[in-house]
Amino acid sequence: MPKAVVVRSAGGPEVLEYSDVPSPVPGDDELLVRVGAAGVNYIDTYQRSGQYPVPLPTALGLEGAGEVIASNSSSFAVGDRVAWMSVLGSYASEVVVPASAAVRVPSSLDVELAAAALLQGITAHYLTHSTHVVKEGDRVLVHAAAGGVGLLLTQWAKARGAYVVATVSTDEKEALAREAGADQVLRYGDFASQIEKVDVVYDGVGRDTFDQSLASLKPRGLLALFGASSGPVPPLDPQRLNAAGSVYLTRPSTGAYLLDRAEFEWRAADLFGAIADGTLSVRIGGRYKLEEAAQAHTDLQSRRTTGKLLLLP
Ligand SMILES: NC(=O)c1ccc[n+]([C@@H]2O[C@H](COP(=O)([O-])OP(=O)(O)OC[C@H]3O[C@@H](n4cnc5c(N)ncnc54)[C@H](OP(=O)(O)O)[C@@H]3O)[C@@H](O)[C@H]2O)c1
Repeated sequence: MPKAVVVRSAGGPEVLEYSDVPSPVPGDDELLVRVGAAGVNYIDTYQRSGQYPVPLPTALGLEGAGEVIASNSSSFAVGDRVAWMSVLGSYASEVVVPASAAVRVPSSLDVELAAAALLQGITAHYLTHSTHVVKEGDRVLVHAAAGGVGLLLTQWAKARGAYVVATVSTDEKEALAREAGADQVLRYGDFASQIEKVDVVYDGVGRDTFDQSLASLKPRGLLALFGASSGPVPPLDPQRLNAAGSVYLTRPSTGAYLLDRAEFEWRAADLFGAIADGTLSVRIGGRYKLEEAAQAHTDLQSRRTTGKLLLLP
């Protein structure tokens, strides 16, 4: 019988239930996939806790990679290896994936790496190629630089010629950020006074870093607030952007940067290409059994992890 990690009522990691579930049935333009690996993303913890409400009960998880075992799409055949994102219920042994949410995994890439790369890699892609087009000589600040998105952002910003300032909480994470190419690595706290001002801040930490992030920008710089691992930023007065030097604030998300199939394929192809040519190295920082999803969430939220966490059915 297929298994999934189900949430019946919002709460802490203990609400994640490893359960038998009915065999999912694909509809038109959908695939049934045997999940090789499901990716853990910070957003999964917001959906589990109710910070981002989802209809309950639900199986959790948004991405993975595996093998097509039934197909109602002319674009994918049984036996194809696919990766997908934004499909709720991906913490499962089998999942139905709309063909529009799937991309073929190149033969050079193993399924675990594909599952580890897709959502966080596409995020790092749009942040460095679209939200702010990082160019030679830019000064870029990346928070939580040893995390899943952070390591990819650091590597991609470096590859595009930026000077990367990184923040991390521990010496071990500092070593990883430096290995990824960070030029300057700081702890949090009063970091704005310790750095030369930057063109863009990539801030996935949120509440604890926001004020210092604003204070780190050059005049007309951009604060890309793309997450809230420390909690949501309270509402703010737009005059603060004036006071910070006519800076820009955006709160981007994948939906607005994957507007159609062509955009999804472009970002995924760039991502897989960057992995294949060595521009990006994807760090799998933890592998857990599917039934250990609660432990993965606990570890992620207690800042004990680096890189990407995977659940292996
Ligand atoms: N908008 C989008 O499109 C998008 C897409 C993907 C992810 N995200 C966001 O990007 C951020 C990173 O996601 P991820 O999956 O790659 O996670 P992650 O960075 O691997 O894990 C979160 C990291 O945040 C740092 N952190 C700082 N303060 C924290 C606190 N109070 N509690 C917990 N962690 C804290 C920790 O690193 P240190 O110990 O070094 O501080 C921790 O390891 C999340 O906010 C996520 O929601 C947004």
